[in-house]
Amino acid sequence: MEGGGLRAVGSHCSLSEMDDLDLTRALDKPRLKIERKRSFDERSMSELSTGYSRHDGIHDSPRGRSVLDTPLSSARNSFEPHPMMAEAWEALRRSMVFFRGQPVGTLAAVDNTTDEVLNYDQVFVRDFVPSALAFLMNGEPDIVKHFLLKTLQLQGWEKRVDRFKLGEGVMPASFKVLHDPIRETDNIVADFGESAIGRVAPVDSGFWWIILLRAYTKSTGDLTLSETPECQKGMKLILSLCLAEGFDTFPTLLCADGCSMIDRRMGVYGYPIEIQALFFMALRSALSMLKPDGDGRECIERIVKRLHALSFHMRNYFWLDHQNLNDIYRFKTEEYSHTAVNKFNVMPDSIPEWVFDFMPLRGGYFVGNVGPAHMDFRWFALGNCVSILSSLATPDQSMAIMDLLEHRWAELVGEMPLKICYPCLEGHEWRIVTGCDPKNTRWSYHNGGSWPVLLWQLTAACIKTGRPQIARRAVDLIESRLHRDCWPEYYDGKLGRYVGKQARKYQTWSIAGYLVAKMLLEDPSHIGMISLEEDKLMKPVIKRSASWPQL
Ligand code: GLC
Repeated sequence: MEGGGLRAVGSHCSLSEMDDLDLTRALDKPRLKIERKRSFDERSMSELSTGYSRHDGIHDSPRGRSVLDTPLSSARNSFEPHPMMAEAWEALRRSMVFFRGQPVGTLAAVDNTTDEVLNYDQVFVRDFVPSALAFLMNGEPDIVKHFLLKTLQLQGWEKRVDRFKLGEGVMPASFKVLHDPIRETDNIVADFGESAIGRVAPVDSGFWWIILLRAYTKSTGDLTLSETPECQKGMKLILSLCLAEGFDTFPTLLCADGCSMIDRRMGVYGYPIEIQALFFMALRSALSMLKPDGDGRECIERIVKRLHALSFHMRNYFWLDHQNLNDIYRFKTEEYSHTAVNKFNVMPDSIPEWVFDFMPLRGGYFVGNVGPAHMDFRWFALGNCVSILSSLATPDQSMAIMDLLEHRWAELVGEMPLKICYPCLEGHEWRIVTGCDPKNTRWSYHNGGSWPVLLWQLTAACIKTGRPQIARRAVDLIESRLHRDCWPEYYDGKLGRYVGKQARKYQTWSIAGYLVAKMLLEDPSHIGMISLEEDKLMKPVIKRSASWPQL
């Protein structure tokens, strides 16, 4: 694919238009930035028209608001905003963190009901994403810009766990601003995994950073940030950690357990869907921002190659629907050579009982993990939503993911959106897989718990697939409880009916996630910040049995 098929690229090319370009075109001529602002707005419109019916009268996010202003998103509505919105904005503003007078992020939680702070008084990179989107949608980009620059500075630190030096590109999991009231100075401490419980590496942080840089750029039309040599270098450093050649036989990214939102041992080591989807989205986002000069060009070439291989691999081997499940059920094992159908030697006996009943005739999803003799059939919310947003899922697959969600509403949404994964692990399996983790008991926390923060991703996926009514149902559920329960971090139980055993109250991303979902529903043009259209010329899904010769 690469090498051939290079086509001339138009000279009027900007970040927004790049999203739509055939990946191979990215290797061609340098991009010129002409009529930047206009193309950003047009981009939002074209994204809208493909996903769902067109909304007329879409307006830009207002800019340059002060942090103390009333929320614009609710103020400009013709209908009454839900009273929870105002409270959510207040709570979100209370969580803001300042460094030498500038807002640089939001605390993970502002829970005054407990003394057990742990590290919830820090700014987590992944937790800040919904806060950032809320601020961007409300026309307050400054905090996002400062956050991006501050974390970029932190990336430059020397990072060690004991005597082991971490890769240059690693972004922090979290940071904390220490204020010295006597000297009146602010200092920052950051955690790259060396202090985290279990010493887990935040593989997702760098990806979220790139995704957020694109969201900032799309939302503001300000290309000057992403084009600075510092940001260009930051992106390249993150990606060179993932694009380096090694012993890999797959284009997916090999990870340790606990390297993302699920930051404890949960049996997601290997090739977890959450990381693969974020990796894909970060690659595509970087492609739209990297300048093809010097080593940028080489990086772009590597990204393009990787994207082709990654989308092929994911769409073929991670995808599960009724037909595929039946194929796997009938798999032969121990096949050697290129003609193997069961390439990873998955044993049909390892298919868990629940999945046969769970799988509807219409619908499908990306499974949790695929590796040698290993298929984790669990459904994970974040990975599937990000697959839709990044267009890692084909349009058909995106629709199928939404079909499944509707079909399995009781299991995946229940009374509180949204299950982080389904189903839970229990008994012997829980003991072996989690290492007897008392925080991750069945239907709790990462083990089948329900996380309100995931509402924003669900809503974005619904809007992208033209099914906002699904999101509205989920928002109604949230509005009936979240505020009354003081914005908990997560809920427990098969239906998500109970406030989580150790859940923080006033968890910032539960608050921000709600705001983002509401603002997306009010003004769907915001979707362009966090969604990438399908690359039409990416290879289509090829049937398993026919795939080898075409590789
Ligand atoms: C928990 C979550 C993690 C989150 C952190 C701060 O550790 O598992 O995803 O970033 O809390 O809220």
